[in-house]
Amino acid sequence: MKKILLIGKTGQLGAELMKDAAARGFKIAGYEKDQLDITNVNEVREKIAQEKPSIVINTAAYHVLPLCEKNPLLAMAINFVAVNNLARICKEHNILFVTYSTDYVFDGQKGSPYQEDDLTSPLQVYGMSKLAGEYAALHSHPGGTFIIRTCGLYGGENGSLQKGGNFVLNIIKQATSQKTIEVGSEQVVSPTYAGDLSKATLDLFKFAAVPGIYHLVNEGQCSWYELARETFALANIDAKIIPVNRSGQGAQMKRPLFSALQNTKAKALGIQLPSWQEGLKSYIMKRI
Ligand SMILES: NC(=O)c1ccc[n+]([C@@H]2O[C@H](COP(=O)([O-])OP(=O)(O)OC[C@H]3O[C@@H](n4cnc5c(N)ncnc54)[C@H](OP(=O)(O)O)[C@@H]3O)[C@@H](O)[C@H]2O)c1
Repeated sequence: MKKILLIGKTGQLGAELMKDAAARGFKIAGYEKDQLDITNVNEVREKIAQEKPSIVINTAAYHVLPLCEKNPLLAMAINFVAVNNLARICKEHNILFVTYSTDYVFDGQKGSPYQEDDLTSPLQVYGMSKLAGEYAALHSHPGGTFIIRTCGLYGGENGSLQKGGNFVLNIIKQATSQKTIEVGSEQVVSPTYAGDLSKATLDLFKFAAVPGIYHLVNEGQCSWYELARETFALANIDAKIIPVNRSGQGAQMKRPLFSALQNTKAKALGIQLPSWQEGLKSYIMKRI
């Protein structure tokens, strides 16, 4: 039985991985931030030596965009330096290392879904720090690192603590006090349900995928406005949504206008997530 050491077990994705890995017969040792902080390299080294996992999965990140702009050193410490340390320690112990990255490593200029080997060009500190983490991990542990890029992630009972929930939960909450809601229509993404991402992550091991960069997202693409509309339709919410164009600007930082991702590498192995509408339906059925 393979053992996984999971970092960030209380997060949107971490909570799903805890359940799914156990259901698939993995032994799993999950840690929350208070028990294992990835910026503390000695603690990380100790825990890995103690648990002796065959796979380390890191879901931790510093990912509130305006905070990354304000605190670039902290963004780099968590998304780059800590990820590099994890990869180095995994290499020393011959452990597979999985860490997550983002659609925000791209600038959106391509105008069609990004494939795994497309040119990266992040527009803000968050994307730069995540891309630095990608490079570092692949460099430090080339034969054993899986970089999984995902997009517009939502999941869990309360979403992400750091982000104050997630888009789906927050828009549903907003509808309880507002009859008319403005939602950005200019940004196109591949919204992804953490439950589907968790299963696809574990499928990489089932199908003996080779280490490298993977795009794991629910299939298809939509704007945040379309995601809000579908959410309200599925949850039977009667509120008016008004599309607004903010040109990807906000909190003095740029966001890519088109950052949908295309899964080509995992798909070639038979790993494909459901459509974004199906992913959303699964989440809403569970939560409401
Ligand atoms: N959310 C999105 O829209 C999105 C989009 C693309 C990519 N991603 C990537 O997907 C991954 C998972 O995201 P998520 O939405 O599941 O995140 P999340 O819900 O915020 O969960 C992250 C988890 O990591 C923990 N954590 C934070 N800093 C840590 C540290 N220094 N040491 C140890 N644990 C720490 C958090 O603990 P606390 O809750 O106590 O802080 C939380 O349990 C991240 O790499 C993220 O960059 C997310």
